[in-house]
Amino acid sequence: MSVDGAFDRRKDQSPAITAVNGNINGNGVTLSSAPTFCLSLNPNKEHKPDNYDDLALEYDPMLFTCLERYLPPSLLSSSRDSKLHFMRDILLKYSPEGERIRAQKHREYRQKIISNYQPLHKELYSMHATNFFVPSFLKAIHDNTEESFRSIMSEPAPGIFTFDILQPQFCDLLLKEVENIEKWVCDTKCKIMRPNTMNNYGAVLDDFGMETMLHKLMEDFVRPISKVFFPEVVFYPEVGGSSLISHHGFVVQYGIHKDIDLGFHVDDAEVTLNVCLGQEFSGGELFFRGVRCEKHVNTETQAEESLDYSHVPGRAILHRGRHRHGARATTQGRRVNLILWCRSAVFRELKKYQTDFSSWCGECQREKKVRQQLSISAVKEELLKKEGESTS
Ligand SMILES: [Fe+2]
Ligand SMILES: [Zn+2]
Repeated sequence: MSVDGAFDRRKDQSPAITAVNGNINGNGVTLSSAPTFCLSLNPNKEHKPDNYDDLALEYDPMLFTCLERYLPPSLLSSSRDSKLHFMRDILLKYSPEGERIRAQKHREYRQKIISNYQPLHKELYSMHATNFFVPSFLKAIHDNTEESFRSIMSEPAPGIFTFDILQPQFCDLLLKEVENIEKWVCDTKCKIMRPNTMNNYGAVLDDFGMETMLHKLMEDFVRPISKVFFPEVVFYPEVGGSSLISHHGFVVQYGIHKDIDLGFHVDDAEVTLNVCLGQEFSGGELFFRGVRCEKHVNTETQAEESLDYSHVPGRAILHRGRHRHGARATTQGRRVNLILWCRSAVFRELKKYQTDFSSWCGECQREKKVRQQLSISAVKEELLKKEGESTS
């Protein structure tokens, strides 16, 4: 028997984590480090950047908005076009050729779907917060304090938050839209990219035209909560929140003739929002086994890190992407979940230069505690020795 409920892989049927569940087209976060000889080291906080949302660009428009504050002072007041030109040149220089081609292909793929697919419920494609969310969630976001978030949330294990978020009508409409997507894929025999490397069913909603709405969901709803509960991933809010900059939004489907379960893994995300849309199902519980950095991804689970969570339609579970988890078999019916992976390029870049992740990795935290205890004992021993010497 494992000590203190420590993670027993045989019991959980969870092999060691060998890969991160990522999206297939690999269009995740790519941070192109800008050459320091032309960008300022510090952002100009007074400068109000332009908006690039209306342009079809190789990178997330938000990246340009954020980068703009780092432009050399002489460029800050020039036209949007020349700023864009300058920033694109920098970014392209640091983005590998293969990745650029892949991004271009993916844009074409998405364009093809969007120009052919007829949405069933157009009202889902732009953010209508009062129609989408339950009032308690809206109020908490409006108040925007730790207290207001805590008042609607449970934290069944450290760093895992669950709360009611979606109205039943919204879940219903989105389920119907997903069915419509499935039908379209089947009728047109269109080969769509599945949501990630582990799910074979479901669809990337961003590819079907929901990117803007889901981006808003991340920016206006997930980011404020993450700022409070996952502070290490939300940087520089005073300069416009340059992190949690991109997202990957998709639905997954479980049941007979769909995916049955999902192996033990970490997500290719800094923060994951997972909302059950319905419908009738048995099983499908999520199991969590603590947050780990890359180095510690296969270390043991402490008893307090172990959590099983049963989905409730309309209810969200929010956790760090590095929170190790998996999904048990959906044994009956059909389960559809909306998942939003939120990513921070800044966090990923900074992580490369750090070795201690004790602010979020459970194992780094444990190691740090052991080191501190050892040094306290050493000091104590030293003091006792000195005391003994002076009294003798
Ligand atoms: Fe996951
Ligand atoms: Zn660690």
